[in-house]
This record gives sequence, C-alpha cells and structure tokens, in this order.
Amino acid sequence: MRLGVNSFNFALAASFLVSESLAQCPDYTTYSQAPHDPRSSGPLGLPYMRPAPACRTFNSSAVEKVIVDMKSLLKDPDLARLFENTFPNTLDTTVKYFSKSENLAFIITGDITAQWLRDTANQFAHYHSLLSVDPDLATLVKAVINNEARYVAQYPYCGSFQPPPESGLAPSHNDWADGVTVNPQVIHVSNSGSFSLTRECKSRPVNNQTVFECKYEIDSLCGFLKLSRSYYNATRDSSFMNANWRDAIDQIFRVINEQSQGTFDENFNFISYYNWTGGNHALSPAVDNGGNGEPKAYTGLVGTHHRPSDDLSVFAFLTPANAMLSVELMNLAHLLDSTGQLRNVSQQAKEWSARIQDAIWKTTVWDAFFVVCLTSDTQQVVDNIFAYETNGFGGRYVMDDANVPSLLSLPYLGFLDKQNPAYVATRKLLFSGGNPYYAAGKKFNGVGGPHVDAWHPWPMSHISSIFGTDDDQEILQSLYIIANNTNGLGLIHESQSIYDPTSYTRSWFAWANSYFAEMILDLAERKPGLILKQNKSYIPGK
Ligand SMILES: *[C@@H]1O[C@H](CO)[C@@H](O)[C@H](O)[C@H]1NC(C)=O
Ligand SMILES: *[C@@H]1O[C@H](CO)[C@@H](O)[C@H](O)[C@H]1NC(C)=O
Ligand SMILES: *[C@@H]1O[C@H](CO)[C@@H](O)[C@H](O)[C@H]1NC(C)=O
Ligand SMILES: *[C@@H]1O[C@H](CO)[C@@H](O)[C@H](O)[C@H]1NC(C)=O
Ligand SMILES: *[C@@H]1O[C@H](CO)[C@@H](O)[C@H](O)[C@H]1NC(C)=O
Ligand SMILES: *[C@@H]1O[C@H](CO)[C@@H](O)[C@H](O)[C@H]1NC(C)=O
Ligand SMILES: *[C@@H]1O[C@H](CO)[C@@H](O)[C@H](O)[C@H]1NC(C)=O
Repeated sequence: MRLGVNSFNFALAASFLVSESLAQCPDYTTYSQAPHDPRSSGPLGLPYMRPAPACRTFNSSAVEKVIVDMKSLLKDPDLARLFENTFPNTLDTTVKYFSKSENLAFIITGDITAQWLRDTANQFAHYHSLLSVDPDLATLVKAVINNEARYVAQYPYCGSFQPPPESGLAPSHNDWADGVTVNPQVIHVSNSGSFSLTRECKSRPVNNQTVFECKYEIDSLCGFLKLSRSYYNATRDSSFMNANWRDAIDQIFRVINEQSQGTFDENFNFISYYNWTGGNHALSPAVDNGGNGEPKAYTGLVGTHHRPSDDLSVFAFLTPANAMLSVELMNLAHLLDSTGQLRNVSQQAKEWSARIQDAIWKTTVWDAFFVVCLTSDTQQVVDNIFAYETNGFGGRYVMDDANVPSLLSLPYLGFLDKQNPAYVATRKLLFSGGNPYYAAGKKFNGVGGPHVDAWHPWPMSHISSIFGTDDDQEILQSLYIIANNTNGLGLIHESQSIYDPTSYTRSWFAWANSYFAEMILDLAERKPGLILKQNKSYIPGK
C-alpha cells in the first residue's frame, strides 16, 4: 500500500551496492554449521561465530559496547562467548534492506528469507534499552514498524512477508504456500482509516510478491504491537504512528472482532471470516472444515488457526497468545493515552484486554485431573493448571509448545507474576511427563512441539523457563542445558534431539539467538551474582 514509486530507482541503486559488497561473504546458513576460531577458554571451548565485519548487515557501536562490557563482566568465558555470538546476531546477519529515506527495513528470520511479524518483534526485543542511545538503531526499528504496518494494513491475516518492492530484492518462493487457498483473499475496508466492519471483498489471490505465507496466527499481530510500544517507550518518538500504522491498528481490531465469534450463530449459520486450505498436493497439511479449523464457542477469547510454530492449532483458543494479546492491548491503550491519539481505540483496547484476561482465568484453568507418570503407573491429581488450548465447549489440551508465546513464557509476556500459583503448578507439570511435548535424554531435555517432533525439545523452552523462576539452581540448570547443547557451534538452535547430540534443527535462527541474549541481560540485571563476577546489576545503555 502507498508504495513510493518515485524513489524506487534510488533504492535499487542502494541495495545493489549492499549486495555487491556482500557478494564475497559466505552464506551464513553454511557458515553457522561449522565452528570458527578462536575458541572460548572455558570447558566447552565454544567457537566465535560472528561474520567478518565487512559481512555484517548493520553496525551499532552501542551493541558493540554491550558486548565488550558483558565479556568483561561474565564469570564463565563460555557464557561470554555465547553472548558475544548471539546478542548481535540479528544485526550481524538479518538486515537484508534498510532505507532511512523510505522508512522501510526488511528483516529475515535467519535461514528463511522472509520477514515474520512474530520473529522480528523478538529479534529486536533485546535491543530496546539501546534505542535511546543509538539513534541509527532506533531509525532501523522505526523502519521495521512502518514496513510491518503496511503488511498488516493490507493482510492482517498473514504472518510472513516478502521484501518491500522499494528494496529491489526478489521475492522468495515458499513451497509450503503452494496449493494453499486463502479466503477472503484481499479485503479493502471501504472507509479506510475509520473503524468499521463494512468490507468490500474482492476475490483476488493473496499476492505472493507481498505475502510469503498467510497462516493466521493472532500472536503475529501482538508482535507488531509489542515492537511499536517498545519503540515508543524507549524513544518517546510517536512519528511511527502514521496513516499506515493507524490502518494496521484498525485491521487488528477487525481480526479480534471476527475471530472471537463462535463457529455458528444462533440459527446455525456457519460463520467464516477467513479460511486456509492446504491439502491437494500442498506440503502444508489441510485444515479441517473447509479450512476453518475445529469449531469454537464464544468465551471472550480470540481464536487462531495456526500456532506460533506455524503448526495447525488443535483447538482455536490458544491461551498464551491470548495472554500476550491482553497484555499488548493494555500497552496499546497506554501508548495511545500518553500520545493523546485515537482515544476511542484506546477504550476498545482496554475493554478487550479485560475481557480476554477474564476469559483466560475463567475458561482455561483446570482443576483436579489425572496425569499418569511415565516412570510409574501411579496417577497423580493435579490442580490449577492452564490448558494450552481450549474450544469453548469444554475441550482442552494440556500441553505446551516451545514457541513463544507459550505457557512457560507467561511471566515473560507480562501476563502474570512468576510466583502466581497457577503458573507455578503449570510450569512444574510442563517440565514433567505430564506434558506430551516434554522429553528428556541423558544430556538434553525440554519442551518441544510437533513442528519438529516429540523427541527434539527446543532450547527456547529453557529460556522461557529461566524468565519464569527466581530459583538459582533451576536457572543454572536450564542455562547449562542450553550452553552444553549447541553441538559445539555456540549458537542457539531451534531443536535438539534427546538421543543424539549431533541432531539439531536450524543452525541460523535469529530469534532464538536474540531471546537467549535477552535472557542473559535479564539475569545480569535481576541476578547479577549468579553469572557476573560482581554482584552488581548491569543494564545496557545505562
Ligand atoms: C559494518 O562495518 C564494517 C567495517 O567494520 C564495514 O565493512 C561494513 O560494510 C559495515 N556494514 C554496514 C551494513 O554498514
Ligand atoms: C507466485 O505464484 C505464481 C503462480 O502460482 C508462481 O508461478 C510463482 O512462482 C509464485 N512466486 C513466488 C515468489 O512464490
Ligand atoms: C476512532 O476515531 C477515528 C477518528 O475519529 C475513527 O476514524 C475510528 O474509526 C474510530 N475507531 C473506533 C475503534 O471507534
Ligand atoms: C518501558 O521501559 C522501561 C525501562 O526500560 C521498562 O521497565 C518497562 O517495562 C517498559 N514498558 C513498556 C510498556 O514497554
Ligand atoms: C471461505 O471463505 C470465503 C470468503 O470469506 C467464504 O465465502 C467461504 O464460504 C468460506 N468457505 C468455507 C468452507 O467456510
Ligand atoms: C554441562 O557440561 C559440564 C561439563 O562441561 C558438566 O559439568 C555440567 O554438569 C553440564 N551441565 C548440565 C546442566 O548438563
Ligand atoms: C547478591 O546480592 C543479593 C542482594 O544483596 C543477594 O540476595 C544475593 O544472595 C547475592 N548473590 C550472590 C551470588 O552473592
């Protein structure tokens, strides 16, 4: 939308120069699969995995300072090396295009050349405190927000996108989107900029030059909101709230209204605002009920079709995604109030935030059900447990999937305190055989998900878990499970086999690297004595 055609040639020339200078750089997917010297001096001897300076995709002196600081502060040289590799990974490797004059930036996830709304919000989360001290970094994040605002305004149901045309970068082909039909395809809100459900639907295919994948995942929209409020919080600059951004906000409320409704109305008319097929030779699995997913009944929660892992939801109401939505809608209301903008939207945001929060506590917390322990045939009664998914008919799925938002990450998301009894009980269950997607081997354990398979848990689950506890022993245990299981590569991978230390997925997964570094910085502030030489909090940018 509103693509500036005039400056297209300039952008082409600029991106040509970047790709020219990066031409001799090794592909980081390959680079990240082999260890590079020098090694860290701790027992793990971890390699140095940053690309050569000339191959880095964005330079920030503020980021370099944090690396120097942390290397001298951390007790364990292996952890220092992991921090050094992971903290700059987003800037080192994923900024495919940035134009200050166009106010656009294209950020890839790592080994997949597409911009996911969820991933980018997380890829930048650990830099927030630096935005007030590094104006160029702040300008980059503002350009990311503007690029995403255009995507969301046009395709609020899609989660992953192609480069903006101004970049001159070619779109990538996504095999997983082949053979998939998405309905409705393009929606134009007839009175753009105003909040109205009146729509004009045109049956045009989702444009694969703009969209990489159009699975509907409500947390993608939360990622966009999180990035927006974090940027404002750090910079107090409200100039990102332009027409694109306001259109995107309107579309987010449209999705919330549509996807909170039950599957049938009172006369059993079938309600479908969005459907996604798959099947018919598509690599992606088909979605039940003509692409609409399992039926759901109104509870106040907002449904989703796929999980943050891009896997099919079993039940539509994903508890952790709704928790994130509730938090981010309240943050949105605060943002609008403090900038004096869209007071009416702020009111709606507060109402939805409260409604969702209320529905989470009333409909997703379960008492008194039986769990069979793997190691014995005794049954155990557990209480006060969050279900991962519900459907409003009483259906529930007690499990967790490692991708954030997850149940383990509820404190990280800002939904509840880590001491909350329901969280404490749920966390305990999730790290046990009572969670179908928990698995443990001799060296590695954790929570995974069906995205890879049940015996490849994700290091990310331990990162979420560290954010969810104040117990020093639990923190150190999780920290070293992560550090010990990088297959000697010094980066955070997507998943790791419990049987085979050399079997892992995604050597280049920028979000996981950022999340690890964010967790280390959280510990440096919250529990300095545990990981730093001195028991004194370190806060970047301070
Ligand atoms: C980052 O700095 C290095 C020099 O240290 C330079 O070669 C490289 O081109 C810079 N990268 C960008 C994107 O400006
Ligand atoms: C877009 O779709 C067309 C028609 O299905 C296909 O030929 C083309 O390869 C697709 N392009 C991308 C970038 O996926
Ligand atoms: C809020 O007010 C603006 C400007 O008057 C209007 O365009 C928009 O539709 C309203 N939004 C809601 C949620 O009522
Ligand atoms: C704003 O920034 C402060 C300080 O960095 C942080 O503690 C707070 O959680 C942030 N709030 C939001 C809504 O981002
Ligand atoms: C899929 O969505 C389209 C457009 O919203 C709608 O016309 C159609 O009835 C839906 N199909 C099913 C099976 O729900
Ligand atoms: C990590 O590996 C070290 C040996 O390098 C071992 O002493 C420690 O127990 C391991 N920690 C965990 C949590 O696996
Ligand atoms: C660090 O200081 C805090 C607060 O004074 C204290 O509770 C904690 O035990 C200390 N940690 C270490 C490892 O000394």
